[in-house]
Amino acid sequence: MTIPSRRTFAIISHPDAGKTTLTEKLLLEGGAIHLAGEVKARGANRRARSDWMKIEQQRGISVTSSVMTFERGGIVFNLLDTPGHEDFSEDTYRTLTAVDSAVMVIDAAKGIEPQTRKLFEVCRLRNVPIVTFVNKVDREGRDPFDLLDEVADALALDVCPMSWPVGMGGQFEGIFDFASGTLRQPTGASKEFEGKAATFSGLEDAGLAGALSADGLARLREEGELAQGGYTSFDLAAYRHGDLTPVYFGSALKLFGVTELLDALSAYAPPPREQPAEPEAISPERPDVTGFIFKVQANMDPQHRDRIAFMRLCSGRFKRGMKLTPSGSGKPMAVHSPILFFAQDRELADEAYPGDIIGIPNHGTLRVGDTLSEKADVRITGLPNFAPEILRRVALKDPTKTKQLRKALDDLSEEGVIQVFYPEIGSQWIVGVVGQLQLEVLISRLEAEYKVEAVLEASPYDTARWLSGSDAALKGFTDINRSSLAKDRDGNPVFLAKSAWDVGYQQERNPEVKFSATKER
Ligand code: G4P
Repeated sequence: MTIPSRRTFAIISHPDAGKTTLTEKLLLEGGAIHLAGEVKARGANRRARSDWMKIEQQRGISVTSSVMTFERGGIVFNLLDTPGHEDFSEDTYRTLTAVDSAVMVIDAAKGIEPQTRKLFEVCRLRNVPIVTFVNKVDREGRDPFDLLDEVADALALDVCPMSWPVGMGGQFEGIFDFASGTLRQPTGASKEFEGKAATFSGLEDAGLAGALSADGLARLREEGELAQGGYTSFDLAAYRHGDLTPVYFGSALKLFGVTELLDALSAYAPPPREQPAEPEAISPERPDVTGFIFKVQANMDPQHRDRIAFMRLCSGRFKRGMKLTPSGSGKPMAVHSPILFFAQDRELADEAYPGDIIGIPNHGTLRVGDTLSEKADVRITGLPNFAPEILRRVALKDPTKTKQLRKALDDLSEEGVIQVFYPEIGSQWIVGVVGQLQLEVLISRLEAEYKVEAVLEASPYDTARWLSGSDAALKGFTDINRSSLAKDRDGNPVFLAKSAWDVGYQQERNPEVKFSATKER
């Protein structure tokens, strides 16, 4: 039996650019769902069941990430959903460590937006290759050349237009694919793509005159020639190295460009890549099973206190019941009920291969950043904790609930929802988050799951830095800065800073101590 190749990817975008719509259409194209729109509907049902997810409904956003698997043309696609809201980016960052490539969706009327740029920067840290999808060409949008130049300039990427829109909005007459010479056109009043497509020998093919208006034809020929001549031609190695992005134009809503996007992922997106690890990088060819946890989600089933840890498989052939050792606890565990996530169902996974994501139910033993391995001799690196940008003191309404609070804070920090810091002096614990929304999630989950009522008070701190260095250097610093010191959940020393200036000042005075804005687990 040959194992289908994997494409494990995520969609990055600014809210409203069309990620949800595109996800639905990709699943539809991949045959994973029968009616577009079901992703949202199912999501809504599932969300309604869980108490703490009220926030999601109130804010109309998706806080939790999930995985959707589908197969097309002999390739298994694992699409990892990243929460799009800018407040909740830490989770998104971690999800991006589990993908081999990404699709960047931009709104043709808006171009690169702040969240697109932020997520792109994360992809760049790991040279994640990116295919760009310029969405909503069925609406009035910006000039395509402007958009291409903006991607190139803002993200310092070579761009290569792979297709071209013949007009946008009211003037939209179709999308021309440069490589195949195929022109796909809208039909009917709603201007959907319903299969009207013809292939031409190129931009000069006389037959194009029969398919387009005179204006449309003149425009396609002029713009198409400039587009092909004015930008770098497609180079697979440059794309895979994260230096070049092929750009597709389309409309997720009207189903333009979606097939081409999937074809591009099949043809160009990398299969599972080597994973940075110690003592050495893990090749997907390595025979023994290794993987890492990039996300832990509680309350997927409100009846149980179980958590699901999402593991990205990096090497080996995983079999149900197999014993794996998590780097955190060091105690081997048999994985009896691994879950595979399909668009509509969850299934027990009998087998999984590099690139696949499996859900492992557990009671809190598995933590974000844990490596799971058959031989317990590796540690996968590159899953950072980010320095929190908001720090708050946690005050209990009922002081007898201290124990429950500690348990809850430990649990939730294990899950990666918040970070918790226990100051060396004083008894008030500090929670740190990257975005405001995480605080709301925290309060809501404390009440719903732990029956702990707490309020968050201002803290004098602005950010935190993990400390490292020689024992002598650390001691020199900690002895005189005790009031600004804390330990994180794992007992690592942390400097709670009053401002970014404070960090710079201390760094200057203590050159032997390393102040890190990220901590790798
Ligand atoms: P997001 O997940 O990135 O936040 O975006 P989402 O897909 O929810 O799309 C945001 C809005 O943009 C939706 O409209 C959606 O229908 C619309 N949209 C997405 N793709 C296209 C496209 O190709 N063309 C056009 N014209 N619109 C598109 P909405 O009115 O906010 O929501 P809904 O009521 O349609 O769900």
